[in-house]
Amino acid sequence: MAMGSGAEGDRSPSRPATTGVAERRQRLLTDLPGMKARGDRIAMVTAYDYPGAQLVDRAGVDVVLVGDTAAMTVLGYPSTVPVSVDELLVLVRAVRRGLHHALLIGDLPFGSYEVSDEQAVATAVRFVKEGGCDGVKLERGAGTSAQRARAIVAAGIPVMGHIGLTPQTAGALGGYRVQGRDSDAAMRLGRELRDLEGAGCFAVVLEAVPGIAADALTRFSAVPTIGIGAGAGTDGQVLVYHDLLGLTKGPRFAPAFADLDSAAYAGLSAYVDQVRAGEFPAREHTYDAAPDIASELESFMRKTSAVL
Ligand code: KIV
Repeated sequence: MAMGSGAEGDRSPSRPATTGVAERRQRLLTDLPGMKARGDRIAMVTAYDYPGAQLVDRAGVDVVLVGDTAAMTVLGYPSTVPVSVDELLVLVRAVRRGLHHALLIGDLPFGSYEVSDEQAVATAVRFVKEGGCDGVKLERGAGTSAQRARAIVAAGIPVMGHIGLTPQTAGALGGYRVQGRDSDAAMRLGRELRDLEGAGCFAVVLEAVPGIAADALTRFSAVPTIGIGAGAGTDGQVLVYHDLLGLTKGPRFAPAFADLDSAAYAGLSAYVDQVRAGEFPAREHTYDAAPDIASELESFMRKTSAVL
């Protein structure tokens, strides 16, 4: 028996890959406008690794984003700005391996698409070719971002927009603030949404936007809107995995639906206590062998100890 089959425990995916997976994802992409039209809410969440991807897929999430929030939630950077394409691609590939149903979107990190259309297309191609993404997301709607989105769409890669609070350029917005609070700012969001629709984006994230502004944007948007901190009126919702599961303390608009931090802390503390008390591993965690092995091995060890 090969090491790992049985002896290592069953770590295989809890659901096998189904045939027609690519077709299903393709259907989902083309059906998103239909979901908007029917009023079927779109459930989107971030994921950053293989087990997380398996979980969100099993839970029936429609769209999974490997967000640049990985910079903070997984890699420990102080903001999303420093994370590189190469760092994100490692996570994207892990998530790809764990997903069989949901659509996979990769987040283009800061500095990987702003310089030129060529740079934006080259980066997006890497997310599709090396990461197996079904599409990419980029931040901001004004000016160059819409142009970059258009170039990526023209290269045959679906693009999701992201307006409102755009963390990559939070400094230019005066910090992590709600966007679109007065009518000028709300109109700006409307123009950005129209630019992204015109560029061919298949959906747009609205982050930290007042509910009434998000409602109006959603009603008049040709493409689905996905809200985070934008109230209940958007076509879908997205949350960061770690906030949703209570592994990190998210902003006010990102409540925890579980308390994995407490559960993980309790489990780890119990492990440390049991190791220190000599209670772990117990007999049932230990492999057996023929008893005479012990005496043979002891005499071998005794004889060879002099050599060492
Ligand atoms: O990077 C990210 O996780 C995101 C979501 C919050 C939409 O952009």
